[in-house]
Parts: sequence; structure tokens; C-alpha cells
Amino acid sequence: MRAMVYRGPYRVRVEEKAVPAIEHPDDAIVRVTRAAICGSDLHLYHGMMPDTRVGMTFGHEFIGEVYEVGPSVQNVRPGDRVMVPFNVFCGTCYYCARGLYSNCHNVNPNATAVGGIYGYSHTCGGYDGGQAEYVRVPFADVGPGLIPDWMDDDTAVLCTDALPTGYFGAQLGDIVEGDVVVVYGAGPVGLFAARSAWLMGAGRVIVVDHLDYRLAKAREFAHAETVMFTEHADLVRHLKHLTEGLGADVVIDAVGAEADGSVLQQVTAAKLKLQGGSPVALNWAIDTVRKGGTVSVIGAYGPLFSAVKFGDAMNKGLTLRMNQCPVKRQWPRLFEHIRNGYFKPSDVITHHVPLEHIAEGYHMFSAKLDNCIKPIVVPSEP
Ligand SMILES: NC(=O)c1ccc[n+]([C@@H]2O[C@H](COP(=O)([O-])OP(=O)(O)OC[C@H]3O[C@@H](n4cnc5c(N)ncnc54)[C@H](O)[C@@H]3O)[C@@H](O)[C@H]2O)c1
Ligand SMILES: [Zn+2]
Ligand SMILES: [Zn+2]
Repeated sequence: MRAMVYRGPYRVRVEEKAVPAIEHPDDAIVRVTRAAICGSDLHLYHGMMPDTRVGMTFGHEFIGEVYEVGPSVQNVRPGDRVMVPFNVFCGTCYYCARGLYSNCHNVNPNATAVGGIYGYSHTCGGYDGGQAEYVRVPFADVGPGLIPDWMDDDTAVLCTDALPTGYFGAQLGDIVEGDVVVVYGAGPVGLFAARSAWLMGAGRVIVVDHLDYRLAKAREFAHAETVMFTEHADLVRHLKHLTEGLGADVVIDAVGAEADGSVLQQVTAAKLKLQGGSPVALNWAIDTVRKGGTVSVIGAYGPLFSAVKFGDAMNKGLTLRMNQCPVKRQWPRLFEHIRNGYFKPSDVITHHVPLEHIAEGYHMFSAKLDNCIKPIVVPSEP
């Protein structure tokens, strides 16, 4: 089969690989019909994630058709059209029993913190991902869901990560009626978080980024006010000014470890690897939320410590909430919102990239070329 393969930082290509085989009676093999490139893949692509091995196939957002199932699998059959959450999870451990699918205890021998994620380095379990023609799906009775007949492929693939993660970011904010919500990052995840904030009762939504075309999308898709952070020497002061001097009730960090905006943070994080990510957006979040407010962190940070303004968070009495998204938990409500027309997630898709050209896709998305917001990867038909 053809599969995207990591060759080292900023180098990926498509190679011939063996079609994955059933390794456990609970496995399924899925023929991929759509995958996507996520902002999280950029952390791998930039060499930020420890133990990202040459030869790995990335891709934690994918849908497809069941091709083969192991002897124990009962809930899906060959030919079924399925969507697969980015989390690999067992469904029965202490954490899964509590809906914390992203924290599953049985899928990652390598860590006590993060669970299993498809195509996301050996730090996250070493599972090959779905930017390929075929992918092995463990616990096939647990993760995958049948795609509803009324849902198109582009919508379904966005339901495997970006949309539920944005929605989850708004949920973690504990938004109450009338709240002022600031979202850092106007990537797909931030756009979905901003749009979701209205659903949860926000009275104002303000999105911050430095890419004009993405802020335009935030105004149009998420009906948000926008702030270009490069236009303000003192961004925190500007946001305070916009929020009656108090700060926002809720701030969502949808940027994560590779935030721009501070040379010192970037050099110590990306170049010197002295911290698990540059927490510029997170520190701005801590500064721009009001005292007693909530900061929701869905932007991803690496396993090391980061230079976060913890003392300010403590002294302001903040609530900090965060996690990798437990995707499947969000599906029932999200499907309702999509079906009743509130959400049209495919509005954020800007490119369809054939799998054979995925290297160009990574470069375009990483360098934010051609007004790219969300690239979808399409393997060729068999
Ligand atoms: N928690 C989860 O389950 C989960 C799931 C998916 C993605 N993520 C993470 O969410 C983050 C966003 O993902 P995405 O796909 O939208 O990525 P993306 O790279 O497309 O978007 C990030 C955006 O942040 C902007 N940005 C950079 N520095 C900023 C700053 N200091 N302030 C405000 N904006 C800034 C960039 O210009 C860009 O538009 C990533 O860190 C990704 O790893 C987490
Ligand atoms: Zn992702
Ligand atoms: Zn589990």
C-alpha cells in the first residue's frame, strides 16, 4: 500500500508499505477514504515530539471502510463505513469507564500520562496512523462508529478530532450565560472552539491570532470579534481594555506548544528543547482571564515542563482545565448540531490533497501558504 512516512524533521514522503495485518482478535483493518493533517501533526513534522521514529506513518484523523476484522470483533463488519476517533482506547479500564478515553491506561506502555493516539510517535503508543491506504484499528468494537447515512465524508473526518476538540475546549471553559470568551488560535481547533462557545451561552467571543486570513474566517465562520496580536505592543492590556478592565470570563488556548509571539520562549522550546513547548498563548491566557476565571487548554504541550506563569494563575484563583479530547464522548451532541444545521464543519476545509502529494500538503499547512486552514488527504480509489 501507499503510506505517508516520516523521514526526519520537515521531511515526509509517500512510500510503499505492507498492508497492516490483524495482530489481535479485536483488531480491524480499515481502508482509508479520507484523512486530515492536524496542527498536532505539525509538532511531529517539526521534530518537537520525543521518540518520533523514522518510518512512522502519521495521521490520527481518518475515516474509511472496514476491510477485514479479527475473530472477536462484533460491532463492525467488512464494508461498513466508519469514523475512528483519534484516541486508541480499550473501553474497560478505570479511565475509560469514566469517559476519559484519551487517558486510557491499557494502550500505551510508554507513559503514565498520555494515552494512545494513532500516528503520534512512540510517546503516544507507537501506532501507525491513517495517512495511508490502510490502517490497523485496535479495539475495533470500542473506538470506531458507523458514519450516519446523512453525513458526508468531509464532515465525518472532521468529527474524528478537530471539531470535537474545539467543542471540548468550550466545554472545559464551563461557560455560563453571557460570558466573555477569548480564544487564542484561529486554526481549525480554535475556530470550532469559538463557534461552540456561542452554543454554550457565550455573550461575546473574541479570537486572537496573527494570520489575517484565519481571523477573517473567525469573523465569518465563528461570528467572532478578532484581534491581530502583532498589532498590539501590549496585547494583554488591549484585551483588558476590550473587557471592561476585568479580563475575559473564559479563555481557551487553541495554540499549544509552538506559539509565536515571544522569541525567548520559541528559542528555549523549539531550538534548545529546554521546555516542552513555548507557552506564549497559555501565559497570555492566564494574563487575560479575569480573577477567578477559567482557562481551558486544548493546545497540545509536550511531556516536559514548560515556563508557565503558574504563580499568577494561583494568585488569581484561576481554574485550569485541559486534556486531549475524548472524542467519542462528544459525538452524540455534535451529530445533533450538525444535523440541525448549526454546524457545517466542512466550511473550514480549504484543500483536498491526494495522498501521493502529502509532502506538499505538510509544507503548505506548516508554512500557512495559499490561505490553508484545513487540508484533507485523499488516498486513491483501489
Ligand atoms: N487537546 C486535543 O485533543 C487536541 C486535538 C487536536 C489538536 N490539538 C492541538 O490544538 C492546537 C491547534 O490545532 P490546529 O489544528 O488548529 O493548529 P494550527 O496550527 O492550524 O493553528 C494554530 C493557530 O495558532 C496561531 N498562533 C500561533 N501563536 C499564537 C499566539 N501566541 N496567540 C494566538 N494564536 C497563535 C497560528 O497562527 C495558527 O493559526 C495544536 O497545538 C494541536 O496540537 C489538541
Ligand atoms: Zn489532532
Ligand atoms: Zn481504557
